[in-house]
Amino acid sequence: MNPPRLLDGKAVAASVLDECRAEAAALKAHGITPGLAVVLVGEDPASQVYVGSKARTCAELGFHSLKIELPAATTQLELLEVVRGLNADPAIHGILVQSPPPKHIDEAAIIRAIDPRKDVDGFHPENVAKLVLEDPTGFVPCTPAGCMKLLEEAGIATTGAEAVVIGRSMIVGKPIALLLVSKAANATVTLAHSRSLDLPAICRRADILIAAVGRPEMVKADWVKPGAVVIDVGINRVADPTKKSGYRLTGDVAYAEVAPRCAAITPVPGGVGPMTIAMLMKNTLQAARQLTGVRSGGV
Ligand code: GUN
Repeated sequence: MNPPRLLDGKAVAASVLDECRAEAAALKAHGITPGLAVVLVGEDPASQVYVGSKARTCAELGFHSLKIELPAATTQLELLEVVRGLNADPAIHGILVQSPPPKHIDEAAIIRAIDPRKDVDGFHPENVAKLVLEDPTGFVPCTPAGCMKLLEEAGIATTGAEAVVIGRSMIVGKPIALLLVSKAANATVTLAHSRSLDLPAICRRADILIAAVGRPEMVKADWVKPGAVVIDVGINRVADPTKKSGYRLTGDVAYAEVAPRCAAITPVPGGVGPMTIAMLMKNTLQAARQLTGVRSGGV
């Protein structure tokens, strides 16, 4: 078989970010600086890396950014107070509370406390409803939006395609299933999960296979139909004593054995990961426009 096409998330993300930079400049001409607040509770090292790169990307685009790092012992009430403060802050258009928070935090209650107009993660029930309703004023969760953008930019047709999503999380699996089945994409979708029977057989039906389970290299070569498009959302740290850090990053797909069967596949890292941040910036611009009533540019 021919070598698979690499779906280069870094390159697509860079072009989305270029559009965002131009859009931010256009808003500034109206006296508006898009503002994003990122809240991290606790010291999870992977979350610290994600939050750091979100703040850095804001700076690169000329956004105002606020990084709020709170100790792991922060109480539910204290976190709610922080969210309420950000809801009321006119310089902040987007609010993101990094998931997962420590166990004692009721994450669903925190998400409901975020002003849905500032919920750039698209996790608030109002935005989940808008996703179901295909209402474009809602915020689409960033990782699923990034996967769809990668497919679109690669010219991969979704209409009539058999899409299989593995993983039913609120952050990735459920929203991407909704996006794939929407009138904009028209795929036939199977949403599989840890209790699905004969997962390999379900996956083998897929023209487009999306792995979002968080299990390193779970998807094997014989799970994949020859010529399929594979999107690997997993970013797993696995121990690797040959690396200075002591770990390497790997996806949910056994890349070395799966890639030769695919028409196209995302690498890890450098596939879906960079797209998530780019779509977050896009959502922050959408929030800034909708909150201020200023329309500009085509982002
Ligand atoms: N943790 C992993 N991905 C995400 C995301 O997209 N948003 C938030 N808030 N937390 C995450």
